[in-house]
Amino acid sequence: MRPLLNVINDRVFHLANDTVSYILYLLPNNQLGHLYYGPRVTVDEATLAAYTTLESKSGGTVHFDATNTMFTLADQLQEYPVYGTSDFRQGAIAAADGDTPLYLNFTYVGYRESHEKPRDLAFPKSFASDGEVDVLTITLEDAAHGLTLEQHYAIFEDAAAIVRWQTVTNTGTTAVTLTRALSGGLDLPTADYRFVQLSGNWARERHVKTRKLAQGTTAIESQRGASSHQQNPYVALQAEGGTLTTGAAYGFNLIYSGNFQASAEVNEWNQTRFMIGIHPDQFAWRLDPTASFTTPEAVVTYSGAGLSGLSAANADFVRNHVIAPEWRNRKRPVVLNSWEAAYFDFDTEKLLKLAAAGKKVGIDCFVLDDGWFGHRDDDRSSLGDWQVYDKKFPHGIDGFAESIHKLGLQFGLWFEPEMISPRSNLIAAHPDWVVAPPHERRAIGRNQYVLDFANPDVVDNLFAQMTKVIDATHLEYIKWDMNRNITEAYSQYLARICRPQGEFFHRYIGGVYNLYARLLAAYPDLLIEGCAGGGGRFDLGILFYSPQIWVSDDSDAVERLRIQTGTALGYPLSAMSNHVTAVPNGQVQRTTPLDTRFNVALFGTLGYELDLTKEPQAVLDAIAQQITTYKALQPLVLTGRFHFLRTLEDPGHNTVAWALEAADQSRIVFGFYRLLANPDGNAVDRIAIPFADPAARYTISGREGTVTGSALRHLGLRLPYEFNGPNQAVAELAGDFQSKLLILTKED
Ligand code: DGJ
Repeated sequence: MRPLLNVINDRVFHLANDTVSYILYLLPNNQLGHLYYGPRVTVDEATLAAYTTLESKSGGTVHFDATNTMFTLADQLQEYPVYGTSDFRQGAIAAADGDTPLYLNFTYVGYRESHEKPRDLAFPKSFASDGEVDVLTITLEDAAHGLTLEQHYAIFEDAAAIVRWQTVTNTGTTAVTLTRALSGGLDLPTADYRFVQLSGNWARERHVKTRKLAQGTTAIESQRGASSHQQNPYVALQAEGGTLTTGAAYGFNLIYSGNFQASAEVNEWNQTRFMIGIHPDQFAWRLDPTASFTTPEAVVTYSGAGLSGLSAANADFVRNHVIAPEWRNRKRPVVLNSWEAAYFDFDTEKLLKLAAAGKKVGIDCFVLDDGWFGHRDDDRSSLGDWQVYDKKFPHGIDGFAESIHKLGLQFGLWFEPEMISPRSNLIAAHPDWVVAPPHERRAIGRNQYVLDFANPDVVDNLFAQMTKVIDATHLEYIKWDMNRNITEAYSQYLARICRPQGEFFHRYIGGVYNLYARLLAAYPDLLIEGCAGGGGRFDLGILFYSPQIWVSDDSDAVERLRIQTGTALGYPLSAMSNHVTAVPNGQVQRTTPLDTRFNVALFGTLGYELDLTKEPQAVLDAIAQQITTYKALQPLVLTGRFHFLRTLEDPGHNTVAWALEAADQSRIVFGFYRLLANPDGNAVDRIAIPFADPAARYTISGREGTVTGSALRHLGLRLPYEFNGPNQAVAELAGDFQSKLLILTKED
């Protein structure tokens, strides 16, 4: 069904598609109230009247005004609340005139509807084909303060999602400062939820952590200038009692990569207010007369099938409405990256040997990581100077690229455009381009400073430097890295043009998006992989431009089980760049079998990052076989549905089972992973495949005969035999960190 807006009595707005309904309405004071978001419902005028005429009955409240002493905002579910006019919870928006806070009161003026949401590179936003989306815009105004507020809602034909954003315009005659402009969220009538967040640190990003909501605020945030390693903007509220596959769950995300805050505030009546948006603490945006500010888009997804169902809803939404359509179903190159193979220690000859070894095993693209530019022999110099290091490349970077292309490989290069080294030509020429107040002590991270991307001259400079290299090398791929967070946030440029420093962080990320947009407009086929010292900016803002992001600097297969499980809750597998690397692993010194490293990495976009010239032939043969297997399965990674069957969060914490179901349901890729061997382990363990087709029979790779789909659903798939002494002849898993990949294929 096409998405639909039904407006009842000019007071109730019902957005619906086949799966979800979202209902908002005008409160007695003509502000916007929230009624419902969840499975599609059928409601008529009479039904709605029973819910929307409710007045507040709560004790101890302050009333909105003297005209209705039964009405307070304190216990109303709202669409875009403000603090301080009878509601004491956090507001979504706040403004001030100099030192004077403005108590905002946005009341309804009218609405409009459109069926267009084109992809526009200028700023990351969801998009859809014409006619497959319904965009409702409700206009409200605060005439006393000269402000107009447009509330935008988009519902898509094929997604269990609502996208929300706002535009605030100064219609008055004096400037006001927005001190808070969140992107909204969802007010819920109860607090029976668990707050599921993806948290961690460098090398252990996006581990799943859950907390029970209780009266008060549960929140996560980043004020690092990036969405961060520590917290990811994806949050789920999972209904109490739900499991991985059952129960209601709401997902929230922001199409944004900068500072953010996501919070769930439970009030004294156990109502929950979830809000997400730009972190208000470092934010102050001056709205001059006639100027507007538009918030990033918040995405709110719903599933009645637990976190796994929510993950599928998120993956579908991101694939269809965030990732560039040209990459949606396009096979990604299997890359060989030079970083863990050579770090800074390379010359042309060494790299060409590595690339040639890659070509032999089936690699598509050779990526030259850090160390090819300026005078970069370690991480202490040259960021900002994107000219080839001629000592390492006597024939220039163009000559090197030509040699790679002659091998029949695509060529990729590493850049870290947002950074500048204290030892660089760029800093000598433009000391005022560093993010920092002038003449003050400044913090340093990984021996580098951050460039002031709020300054358009900086973006112009980087664009010019990068295009020169891209043109000379006919580059197919860029790895865009970003290795430190922002401290002493201050832009000398903003000071010069007399804009508030509170605009810095948002303008910074806008500059990053601007560079992305210009590069992609100039080179539409360029594949830019996002990266931020591992997975420090794994978010929908970056995914809008980069169809894949480096998940983590930790590629240990065991660590990745947790990291990829968390990441898959909010993002599609195709977005995750996973490399098979050498052992012992560089981050944890663990040795895992090559099979296991591959069996984990294939649930994403595959690459390799090890010195193939040092590997024995048996390993090279195995890698060649892996790449062939991957290429045959890659369509499932791009378009299939991922299922969490068993995670390390489950009791036992020793085995993981993942499955990937083809979009046409013809195949299932089943991955089973066991951390530590158990003496006399589980001899005949089984796991249900609840999505197997009950009417079909399946062959299972490496096993005799066939099984029915209904047996897979109810008896379950027999798990690989674990070594337990007497069964040595048939054991399929022997030792620690073992795994097994099974391909289940439906018989015709
Ligand atoms: C951090 C990235 O995550 C690594 O993959 C690598 O590119 C290094 N930076 C290079 O400095």
